[in-house]
Amino acid sequence: MELAVVGAGYVGLVTSVCLSEIGHHVTCIELDKSKVDKLKKGISPIYEPGLTELMMKNVNLGRLSFTTNYLEGFKNKDVIYIAVGTPENEDGSANLSYVDDVAKIIAKNVKRDAIVVTKSTVPVGTNNRIQTIINNHKPSYISIEVVSNPEFLREGSAIYDSFHGDRIVIGANSEKAAKLIEEINKPFNIPIYITGIRSAEMIKYASNAFLATKISFINEIANICERVDADVEQVAYGMGLDHRIGSHFLNAGIGYGGSCFPKDTKALIQIAGNVAYDFELLQGVVNVNKKQQRILLDKLYDRFGNLKGKKIALLGLAFKPNTDDMREAPSISISSELVKAGAIVYAYDPIAIDNAKQILDSSIHFVYNIEQAIGGADAALILTEWDEIKNMDFNLINTMKYPLLIDGRNCIKLKDIKPYQIEYHSIGRSSVKNIKSNNSEVVCQVGESK
Ligand code: UDX
Repeated sequence: MELAVVGAGYVGLVTSVCLSEIGHHVTCIELDKSKVDKLKKGISPIYEPGLTELMMKNVNLGRLSFTTNYLEGFKNKDVIYIAVGTPENEDGSANLSYVDDVAKIIAKNVKRDAIVVTKSTVPVGTNNRIQTIINNHKPSYISIEVVSNPEFLREGSAIYDSFHGDRIVIGANSEKAAKLIEEINKPFNIPIYITGIRSAEMIKYASNAFLATKISFINEIANICERVDADVEQVAYGMGLDHRIGSHFLNAGIGYGGSCFPKDTKALIQIAGNVAYDFELLQGVVNVNKKQQRILLDKLYDRFGNLKGKKIALLGLAFKPNTDDMREAPSISISSELVKAGAIVYAYDPIAIDNAKQILDSSIHFVYNIEQAIGGADAALILTEWDEIKNMDFNLINTMKYPLLIDGRNCIKLKDIKPYQIEYHSIGRSSVKNIKSNNSEVVCQVGESK
């Protein structure tokens, strides 16, 4: 089928590449010329495992192309995907100006009947609004129908998820439009669920809000575990054995970040507020997440009282591993608080360091390996569970001024850390204190929580 995708951001690019991989002819339209120039040379603007290889394969096969020109992009296309950003407004609502602009452009430039598919995450009712905008601007001789097809891709595994996702949701007003989009997606071999448009829009928000709720829930349980000497990992595992609960998204840590959960939870609270409904539970989830990002700072204050002049190493800066995305990463608030408190901050991330430099305080020392970050440090904080960080050589801890490691992602097994001279704390699990005291006796305490 002949498809166009508007937007070569995260969603647009992955969508374009994966639709071309299953055999469609895709033109991806992006206004940023420098981005398109890079894409044409095979350079991806985002770090996403497997994306570049698949992109190049399909460009070379002639199934995928990039352009800055709408007219060229829309030519002979049956279906046009909207995959532009819906950033957060100051009040937490979704900013729909890019989506609205694209709707007008489609209406004014498409020369034949088409289906417009919304991939961008948009509040309930937006697809109807897009349909109205299109109807108001399109020529009367063509028919354009809008369909909602939200994405559920995780950054870092977006290519895998495209081919192994749990479901594809298609929200449409007509059976004909739904069937066409179903046909396009059949080669993915993923269960397809067809709904009304508003329900499809809601499924996306409700899914992200529910996953965020699981995370905030387990984080609160972890905080209680610390105080009652229980182990949150054992608790989460035991909970997850119940299929009604499920074992996923119960990893305690310093809270969720990224481009979706923070934005979508706040947007759903707004959506509810607009119909005079106070979504108290979700507001609690958002509040808990904010509080959770402070947990490591509280642990540092407990330990040192005052952080002025302390060298603190941050290991991992991206909001999660396998991505260079810094959006809403806990490292942003944690590093800013440390700088404010007068700490000397050294920061390392295997991939996100260049993006981090653009966002984080300029007084931070950005370094290029774990050794440089932790050498001479008073404490090291793990903020992102990159493989390189969780498999680090624990002998490096000897190079710290004091061997204090605080693991904000529970990514190190307690048994792996025990043989080392270290003070180790994590979230909702026992601490390990295995430090030679002045008279050279080894003090080893495991099971002490706080
Ligand atoms: C999420 C959704 O998973 C995806 O379906 C949606 O389309 C976009 O938002 P993403 O933001 O890429 O994807 O990352 P995800 O892997 O879901 O993690 C989100 C955040 O939650 C990360 O900061 C991660 O560290 C955190 N998290 C996740 C936890 O703290 N604990 C968990 O158990 C799982």
